[in-house]
Amino acid sequence: LYIGIDLGTSAVKLLLMNSGGEIVRIVSKEYGLSFPHPGWSEQNPEDWYTQSMEGVKELLEGQDKSQVAGISFGGQMHGLVMLNEKDQVIRPAILWNDGRTTKETDYLNEVIGRKKLEQYTANIAFAGFTAPKILWVKEHEPENFARCRKIMLPKDYLAYRLTGVFSTDYSDASGMLLLDVAHKCWSADMCRICGISEEMLPRLYESYEKTGCVKREVAQELGIPESTVVAAGAGDNAASAVGTGTVGEGRCNISLGTSGTLFISADHFVSMNGQNAVHDFAHADGSFHLMGCMLSAASCNKWWTEQILHTKDYPAEQAEITDDRLGGNHVFYLPYLMGERSPLNDPLARSTFIGMTMDTTRADMTQAMLEGVAFGLRDSLEIARSLGISVTKSTIVGGGSKSPLWRKIVANVCNLTLEIPESVEGPSMGGAMLAAVACGEYPDVRTACEKIVRISRTEEPDPELVRKYEEKYQQFRQIYPALKELFP
Ligand code: XUL
Repeated sequence: LYIGIDLGTSAVKLLLMNSGGEIVRIVSKEYGLSFPHPGWSEQNPEDWYTQSMEGVKELLEGQDKSQVAGISFGGQMHGLVMLNEKDQVIRPAILWNDGRTTKETDYLNEVIGRKKLEQYTANIAFAGFTAPKILWVKEHEPENFARCRKIMLPKDYLAYRLTGVFSTDYSDASGMLLLDVAHKCWSADMCRICGISEEMLPRLYESYEKTGCVKREVAQELGIPESTVVAAGAGDNAASAVGTGTVGEGRCNISLGTSGTLFISADHFVSMNGQNAVHDFAHADGSFHLMGCMLSAASCNKWWTEQILHTKDYPAEQAEITDDRLGGNHVFYLPYLMGERSPLNDPLARSTFIGMTMDTTRADMTQAMLEGVAFGLRDSLEIARSLGISVTKSTIVGGGSKSPLWRKIVANVCNLTLEIPESVEGPSMGGAMLAAVACGEYPDVRTACEKIVRISRTEEPDPELVRKYEEKYQQFRQIYPALKELFP
């Protein structure tokens, strides 16, 4: 048996897979997220550990625990976790969707310079990446910075608690802006710029490599063998790509989770030559990928439905949005509740509805919100297309992908054939598959994908609707530039 742990933003999702690649059970354990100031986003690493341990116990109830062979992860990326010399967490983790680092991001991009950053790391700085957060702590919390001995990413903190091994993998490390992605090593220049030493950073592994075994006390608490292998795992998007079979040149996966991502795998490192609006990262199978990331995707739906409409009945809210209404909405929505990463790189961008009239209904606004997220994904797709990458189909996963309506909107806004995998639990499935590869169940990640991933159905774009949405997209594109100066 293999356990995949998706350390997400709203919850940890755990998946148990058997040696035949079948899902045995899925468990989810929620935890809180705090927004101490507008645009800030933090979490308590202890919650990740306690909820993951509780989750594994629940996952294994009634199972033959002696059969557990491996554990691995997909984890929310970019989060800054700092430990002191006693291995205690110094301050709450600063997450991937935190926008406090405007000044530090500008310093890196403008003073150090985009060209240099690309040379050191293959990427430019985006608020939310780890390096600008280190600079923020150095400037605003010098006493915390001085006490810091270890810097790690969220899933690596969990792995450290489980194994005692200070490790990370190339895919997740790519999002720190400390990794020289092309050469797969830490960048001495970036360490110098951030005022840290390389000893403060974890050892680098491929995602499918064994880093160690679970600690004795962890094995005893969970009732699993002490020989249980832990593999390095991957950032949640790379793990999700594994879980959906997105390996090999030009394969695409869209994730409609808290964030919205467009992930394109590439067999070889792609030099961006200044076109850095999307990220240039390592993949979990040893190759590379490009990725656009929206900070608020399914979270726009959650905010609108639960916080504004005061209901959790998502299907009921979407029921009125019948096919004949698609492509004809006069309301637009900007999905920038936490600012925006790709391609705007603007932590101060904000959400808005625009275009309402007296006959605008609640359903029109729900539709606009779903369409606004799809237009945001299309923005990243346009960047990829401008780099000469042709994408005509994609898998789609994440909580939002469970809505047939939203899938249809995405397929037609992006003019993509969408393939819906049997399991939409991308990162936890990918984590379990990486564990299976580390244990020798499959010779490599690609083979695991070929043997395990199955597509259950597809959503084809309709040319007439694609045309209508093309017009709407051209209108959408004009809204942010027109409003940009009005945001705080
Ligand atoms: C990717 C990103 C998000 C988080 C979500 O760059 O920031 O997708 O990984 O967990």
